[in-house]
Amino acid sequence: MSQDKGPVIRTFHVVCIMTLIVGTITQICEESEFEACMSKNNLTHIPKNLLPTTKSLDVSQNYISELQISDISFLSGLKVLKLSHNRIQRIDLSIFKFNQDLEHLDLSHNQLRKMSCYPVVSLKHLDLSFNDFDVLPICLEFGNLTQLSFLGLSAVKFQPLDLLPIASLHLNYLLLVLGDNYVDENMKENLQVLNTKILHFVFQPNSLFSVQVNISVNTSGCLQLTNIKLNDENCQVFVNFLLGLIRGPTLLNLILNHVETPWTCLVNIFRFLWPRPVEYLNIYNLTIDQKVTEIKFIYPATTLKAVKIEHITKRVFLFSQTVLYRVFSEMNILMLTISDTPLVHMLCPDTRSPFKFLNFSQNVFTDSVFDTCSTLVMLETLILQKNSLKNLFKVSLMTKNMPSLKTLDLSGNSLGIHTHEQNCTWSESIVLLNLSSNVLTESVFRCLPPKVEVLDLHSNRIMNIPEDVTYLESLQELNVAFNSLTDLPGCDTFSSLSALIIDHNLVSHPSTDFFQSCQKIRSMKAGNNPFHCTCELREFIKNTGQLSSDIVWDWPETYKCHYPDPYKGILLKDFHVSPLSCNTTLLIVTIVTSMLVLAATVTFLCLYFDLPWYLRMMCQWTQTRRRTRNIPLEELQRNLQFHAFVSYSELDSAWVKNELLPNLEKENLQICLHERNFVPGKSIVENIISCIEKSYKSIFVLSPNFIQSEWCHYELYFAHHKLFWEGSNNLILILLKPIPENNIPSKYHKLRAVMAQRTYLEWPTEKSKHGLFWANVRAAFNIKLTLTSDYDDAKTLESQEI
Ligand SMILES: *[C@@H]1O[C@H](CO)[C@@H](O)[C@H](O)[C@H]1NC(C)=O
Ligand SMILES: *[C@@H]1O[C@H](CO)[C@@H](O)[C@H](O)[C@H]1NC(C)=O
Ligand SMILES: *[C@@H]1O[C@H](CO)[C@@H](O)[C@H](O)[C@H]1NC(C)=O
Ligand SMILES: *[C@@H]1O[C@H](CO)[C@@H](O)[C@H](O)[C@H]1NC(C)=O
Ligand SMILES: *[C@@H]1O[C@H](CO)[C@@H](O)[C@H](O)[C@H]1NC(C)=O
Ligand SMILES: *[C@@H]1O[C@H](CO)[C@@H](O)[C@H](O)[C@H]1NC(C)=O
Ligand SMILES: *[C@@H]1O[C@H](CO)[C@@H](O)[C@H](O)[C@H]1NC(C)=O
Ligand SMILES: *[C@@H]1O[C@H](CO)[C@@H](O)[C@H](O)[C@H]1NC(C)=O
Repeated sequence: MSQDKGPVIRTFHVVCIMTLIVGTITQICEESEFEACMSKNNLTHIPKNLLPTTKSLDVSQNYISELQISDISFLSGLKVLKLSHNRIQRIDLSIFKFNQDLEHLDLSHNQLRKMSCYPVVSLKHLDLSFNDFDVLPICLEFGNLTQLSFLGLSAVKFQPLDLLPIASLHLNYLLLVLGDNYVDENMKENLQVLNTKILHFVFQPNSLFSVQVNISVNTSGCLQLTNIKLNDENCQVFVNFLLGLIRGPTLLNLILNHVETPWTCLVNIFRFLWPRPVEYLNIYNLTIDQKVTEIKFIYPATTLKAVKIEHITKRVFLFSQTVLYRVFSEMNILMLTISDTPLVHMLCPDTRSPFKFLNFSQNVFTDSVFDTCSTLVMLETLILQKNSLKNLFKVSLMTKNMPSLKTLDLSGNSLGIHTHEQNCTWSESIVLLNLSSNVLTESVFRCLPPKVEVLDLHSNRIMNIPEDVTYLESLQELNVAFNSLTDLPGCDTFSSLSALIIDHNLVSHPSTDFFQSCQKIRSMKAGNNPFHCTCELREFIKNTGQLSSDIVWDWPETYKCHYPDPYKGILLKDFHVSPLSCNTTLLIVTIVTSMLVLAATVTFLCLYFDLPWYLRMMCQWTQTRRRTRNIPLEELQRNLQFHAFVSYSELDSAWVKNELLPNLEKENLQICLHERNFVPGKSIVENIISCIEKSYKSIFVLSPNFIQSEWCHYELYFAHHKLFWEGSNNLILILLKPIPENNIPSKYHKLRAVMAQRTYLEWPTEKSKHGLFWANVRAAFNIKLTLTSDYDDAKTLESQEI
């Protein structure tokens, strides 16, 4: 069924509208070396300074009154010459004899009275209409203009026989502008047959129609009549005129412009046209005067497909409305357009109507139109744009009995929903519903046809799309532009949505789940919203920016920040903010991660380097230092009681007692041993520290046993520390038994370092080397001892530290 409508409209367009466009060149003049645009330049002559290359010359709407061969003969390539709306009174076509390419010559709207003939055979478009010719300016030579497609003529006196020279031409468009005088002495014998696709008569405005000629048109094209003023008397004259024109069996499209007629005559014209080979009837600007009276007649079978009446003016107010409506509602055609009229109503057809397409735009129809009407069963398209509809519920009821209705245009009314209790009852077949430019609020979503695919709700008063709306699973295109929506809709209720238009709303924080829930979106227009450029918007910007430009319309130019002020006016595309400052999760994760890393580092240090041990020792050390620092300097000097402190493992004590001590004490050196000199009551650590403090040197007896002993490490640590603090060379390392380096636990990195840096004295196994060994040990003391006394040395050390 719907296949009919397309071709029907297309044929009409091809035959009438397209030929119309071909007939009149409407292109805009663009100045160039080939085109001279001098319209409205107050010219009285054609300028002399034109380029010889000029192909198109527009000198329309000037004051040119004369045209000479010298004006244009040098423009040998001239194709288009527009001279309309000037003051030319006579023309000799031979002035164009050097313009062999001239195709388009427009001399309309001048004051031409006389024309001399010459065959300008290249002409395709010749317009001589709206001039002051007495008789039709047709030369015999016109019969030779085989390329001619458009011919415009005008005459005060119309003698159909004058058309004879052009009868053989096959024109696209013949325009005849006629005055009041018609002369046709011998109608019966002189039938004029014209071959043209469009025949357009323009009669005198404001004078009664009186043309009595016998003209026939051999075409399946268009017959257009402008300015038809009828009364009860001349109605038959007009009908006879039409009768001659529409004599042939070929189909015509009839266009009547500016018709003023009594109601009875209009009905007579319908009655006449219905059985004729006419397919389309268009009436533009119809004035109905006199009384509307009932005329009984039944439309006969017809080839008419469409009637279109635009702009009706009524000069009568007292009439039976139903009589008028009945004439239209009973038409047995497919398409009816009645628009831009003061009609308030249309009747429901009495019987099953063939209407498939009804266009009632720009009338004043109310909600009662087609109320409980069940005869419009074929109706597929109903257009009620720009009427006075108010109640959407009532309109939904209207469609209830239209089982074929697919397209319903209710745009530009005052529709709202007034009864909340009632449910809307739409025709199930509706797929396109246009509700734009009404006063609907979000409650409209409770009142929509269940199978709608295209829904236009732009320019209404919708503030949000409620969650609990009817499930519109077929909806593919939703237009909610120019409303007051604050967010993008989700697609849970519109599972097929593929196109969304939501520009010019109040969307500031579009929800990010839109792109997840609306997987089928193929086109989106969301610009011109007051976007708030904050963190939440980044996801939207990212998603939108990723889509291709044929999906997102007008991106990026219409997507701008509205808030906060520093960003106002900048394009969303250019809005950037660091991910960290936006994402709380990311922020937390970052903090937690760095804390974990810190904790791991601390743990690692504790496990691997025995950090707590060192910290503990440091603490002890500083405490002890503080304590000793409080002791006066003299006392401290006196404190240096020993030459050496010996640190060793208990397991090596035999060597210490049997070898080391005897050898050192032999030299009169005072040695501090922990089992001998430790003060009872003090902690071990304190004892160690004090022993180290009171000793000039510290001797370490290194062996695998030493490594096993934790105390020895303490001692080494403190001694080493003292070395660092005081910068003195107070360590003596004796390697009793070799220690494989990887035997030293890595947490004693101090020992490792000491082992690596310091040259230590190895205890030789051979007895012969023992002498040298002891000499070396004693040398360590001797050098120092010869330089300073014990007490002075201590004093120097102490003052250095302070
Ligand atoms: C033509 O003349 C009118 C009135 O004399 C003047 O206003 C207008 O600017 C003139 N136009 C040109 C293009 O000279
Ligand atoms: C015009 O056509 C006639 C015949 O119809 C012919 O005799 C005449 O020569 C033609 N004129 C030109 C200029 O072609
Ligand atoms: C027009 O001419 C034809 C053929 O000569 C004739 O049959 C017809 O009656 C005429 N029409 C009128 C209105 O005189
Ligand atoms: C009508 O036009 C057709 C072709 O367009 C042509 O064959 C026929 O002779 C024409 N009839 C008259 C009366 O000119
Ligand atoms: C309509 O036609 C009348 C004459 O019938 C004319 O006076 C009027 O200007 C026309 N209106 C429009 C809008 O063309
Ligand atoms: C309905 O009629 C109006 C007025 O003639 C016209 O502008 C509009 O395009 C028509 N609508 C359709 C769908 O043909
Ligand atoms: C709805 O009607 C308006 C005019 O009233 C028009 O601009 C718009 O394109 C129509 N929408 C659809 C989807 O046809
Ligand atoms: C409207 O429809 C709903 C659900 O279909 C139903 O529960 C309710 O009763 C209906 N209301 C009226 C007034 O018919």
